[in-house]
Amino acid sequence: MNDLETVASLLAKAGRVTVLTGAGVSAESGIPTFRGLGGLWNGRDPMSLATPQAFAANPELVWEFYNWRRELVTQAEPNPGHRALAEFSRRLTSLTLVTQNVDRLHQRAGSRDVIELHGNLFEVRCTGCSRTFDRSGETLPPLPRCHDCGQLLRPGVVWFGESLPPAMWEAAETAVRRAPLLLVIGTSAVVYPAAGLVGTAQNGGGAVIEINLEPTPISATVDIALQGKAAEILPILADLL
Ligand code: APR
Repeated sequence: MNDLETVASLLAKAGRVTVLTGAGVSAESGIPTFRGLGGLWNGRDPMSLATPQAFAANPELVWEFYNWRRELVTQAEPNPGHRALAEFSRRLTSLTLVTQNVDRLHQRAGSRDVIELHGNLFEVRCTGCSRTFDRSGETLPPLPRCHDCGQLLRPGVVWFGESLPPAMWEAAETAVRRAPLLLVIGTSAVVYPAAGLVGTAQNGGGAVIEINLEPTPISATVDIALQGKAAEILPILADLL
């Protein structure tokens, strides 16, 4: 058996599979990743765009960045990798999809119950009354305000230095602990706590399989590292299931 056939048979036999995705899964939908060639953080300082302090200092600059990203993902389409993962959940006994991505392309491809560790670009939260609103499909003004209390709205994403939504984090950890197999796709595995899920799987005796264009800090520690494009590898795996 070649590596792809081996991975497909491990997925099928695992019973429960948890998947952790990063920006690389959306790269072939035209959404820039954060690091590497053409990454969002190339030429931009994340500390001036993706922290609560940055927002307090210059909310207009932060909203300009996030409104641009909202537009980008609204125009984008799910790619064959997103669609293959939706197919996985139809073919496998139990699949839990955990994503670091905020573009909702997994959901648009048909994946359900996606655990969004870092929130998403479509929800906004009021800095005054903390209410959350789904503003999908709307073009937001440069400084959107809460209809209820008039205070500034902020993007519904998790910024550097902020903790993940506790319910999301607990659900992700539980899913990793319960699954004998974790499939890690398109993440540089350098941002915690998300990247820590790999260690959680390994410490619990689970197998870890990685799909990435290039080696990452976890590549040497995983059971199988498939090198290539997620949008090419995942459909082949889906067909083999
Ligand atoms: N197929 C598979 N992997 C790919 C592809 C592709 N077509 N294109 C890029 N990659 C890989 C890159 O090799 C890299 O390892 O995807 C990874 C993208 O890494 P990052 O840009 O660091 O994105 P991610 O790991 O999701 O970042 C984690 O950092 O800035 C924060 O909150 C942000 O959720 C994000 C977190």
